[in-house]
Amino acid sequence: MNDGDGALAAQAQGRKFGPLGTALVIIPTYNEAENIKSIVRRVRQSVPEAHVLVADDNSPDGTGKLADELAAEDEQVQVLHRKGKEGLGAAYLAGFHWGMDNGYGVLIEMDADGSHQPEELPRLLTALKGADLVLGSRWVPGGRVVNWPKSREFISRGGSLYSRVALDLPLRDITGGYRAFRRETLEGLGLDDVASQGYCFQVDLARRAVRAGYHVVEVPITFVERELGDSKMSRDILVEALWRVTTWGVGERIGKLRGRANPGRKPSQP
Ligand code: GDD
Ligand code: MN
Repeated sequence: MNDGDGALAAQAQGRKFGPLGTALVIIPTYNEAENIKSIVRRVRQSVPEAHVLVADDNSPDGTGKLADELAAEDEQVQVLHRKGKEGLGAAYLAGFHWGMDNGYGVLIEMDADGSHQPEELPRLLTALKGADLVLGSRWVPGGRVVNWPKSREFISRGGSLYSRVALDLPLRDITGGYRAFRRETLEGLGLDDVASQGYCFQVDLARRAVRAGYHVVEVPITFVERELGDSKMSRDILVEALWRVTTWGVGERIGKLRGRANPGRKPSQP
């Protein structure tokens, strides 16, 4: 579904969406010294009214210090220093809480390495006017990946397909990390019991949003593989994702069967 369709679908559902508040772009970092300055500059140019929060896990390469330098010269840039590497999910949860505590109306997820192009952010925000959650999507018509090794594309497409089937989600790019949330959406997802640490955090939040009945729109993006620094994808991250998605899928199916056996019972929330 593209952004125009999303707005139409929302109208068709008869939903009215409130105005968007100030946006906070949350950029989690672990060893992104070569990328951090350029990505923050591009975000500030592309969406000048948005603020930026760098959530750094005490990167050994000094990313946190570089982010502090950016914050010192720009009051719309802030840094959340975390004590050590705890995974993408934990960094985003801390960033979301910081943003909600500080009154932001829109919370955005964006990688630091340039894979998520800040120049596409206005399109995500336009779509969010008629949605609760917008996913930047590589696997809808118009979306694509540039310079990704075939092996990585296979893992990502496979991960989305497996999640789609195991969790019965009407989405194409379920593992992607370029997203815009209304704060009310995050408030409704029950973030307190999110245990996902690695990239399956993305699947977890998409699943919670669909289950909670939010209007989720996929907007095509061009994902550009990083030129500098290294991916933090690891075997442990893959194993966690496979394990959790399978557990959620089995749990939901058992829940449905129990619901059928006891028709009066309310289905459990995500
Ligand atoms: N603070 C913090 N802590 N940041 C982290 C951590 C962590 O433990 N692990 C990764 N990051 C940051 C990286 O520094 C980068 O800014 C972003 O998270 C994404 O990490 P990459 O290592 O560049 O991810 P990728 O390119 O392999 O994976 C991409 O595809 C995944 C699967 O589709 C990303 O778009 C992921 O978000 C996505 O889930
Ligand atoms: Mn990357």
